[in-house]
Amino acid sequence: MREKKVLVTRKIPEEGINRLKEHFNVEVNELDRAYTYEELKEKVKGKDGVLCLLSDKIDGEIMDVEDRVKIFANYAVGYDNMDVEAAKARNIYLSNTPGVLTDATADIAWALLFATARRVVEGDKYIREGKFLGWYPTLLLGRDISGKTIGIIGAGRIGRAVALRAMAFNMKILYYNRSRKEKFEKEIGAEYVTLEELLGRSDYVTIHTPLTKETIHMISHKEFEMMKDTAILINTSRGPVVDEKALVMALKKKKIWGAGLDVYENEPKVEEELMDLQNVVLCPHLGSATDETRIKMSIMAADNIIAALNGEVPPNCISL
Ligand code: GLV
Ligand code: GLV
Repeated sequence: MREKKVLVTRKIPEEGINRLKEHFNVEVNELDRAYTYEELKEKVKGKDGVLCLLSDKIDGEIMDVEDRVKIFANYAVGYDNMDVEAAKARNIYLSNTPGVLTDATADIAWALLFATARRVVEGDKYIREGKFLGWYPTLLLGRDISGKTIGIIGAGRIGRAVALRAMAFNMKILYYNRSRKEKFEKEIGAEYVTLEELLGRSDYVTIHTPLTKETIHMISHKEFEMMKDTAILINTSRGPVVDEKALVMALKKKKIWGAGLDVYENEPKVEEELMDLQNVVLCPHLGSATDETRIKMSIMAADNIIAALNGEVPPNCISL
């Protein structure tokens, strides 16, 4: 029998690769960059399964390159890079990596929240530039966190993990979600509100919704108008959920106090003007970027491929 072939579109932890190698002939992208769309199309030829990244566009055209391919396993929980309907129409499995990166992503939302509210990055820069000449009462004043109101947009796994952390800071927790989640309300003591109310009442607004047709530019000019001028926006979900140009304007005009971002509308491009603003902290999409989490993701993605190529439904299938 022909040995099955798997493509891994970028180096991932060896735990996942080794697992795949126990079963298949594995080709890993050894370049120091992602494949272009055209390169990916070439590489998919002759493969049975593909382990891909959130930056790889997996559309019908890629799916039609090779009919042997049974699965595209995303190395991410978000899968807005994949065309689910196209996969369904072709009986191809798509999978993601839910759960294993929930805590790491919630942690980075908090890292950005703290860094923005307490001006950690500005402070670091200030010292390195030799400007620290002594304590004084108005040096780099930030915003309180404990006891404030946090508004969570999207009460899925990550939104919940962010809320659990907010409880430890004695915060008032508001949430907005497509559907009401009574279990979450009971567990967290969170209040279900409209998006408008959440924006108007929150000191911190944090986004944990997937990118869909409904959530694209969910936060734009009108929404920034509704926010407190002392509010801080945190986005660790997907860049296009926030209208980045509107965000720049809101920050410049001090319609909001600050923002902490892990994701961008046109990644890896970042709106030029954001770079010049002091009241924003920028991270290069590090939500799941810890040793432990990336290992778990590699194993999970590998297991999805192994299942699919053994004729089973992958455990984290998103295309049924
Ligand atoms: C990261 O952004 C992910 O979706 O896993
Ligand atoms: C993703 O893991 C989510 O449901 O928040």
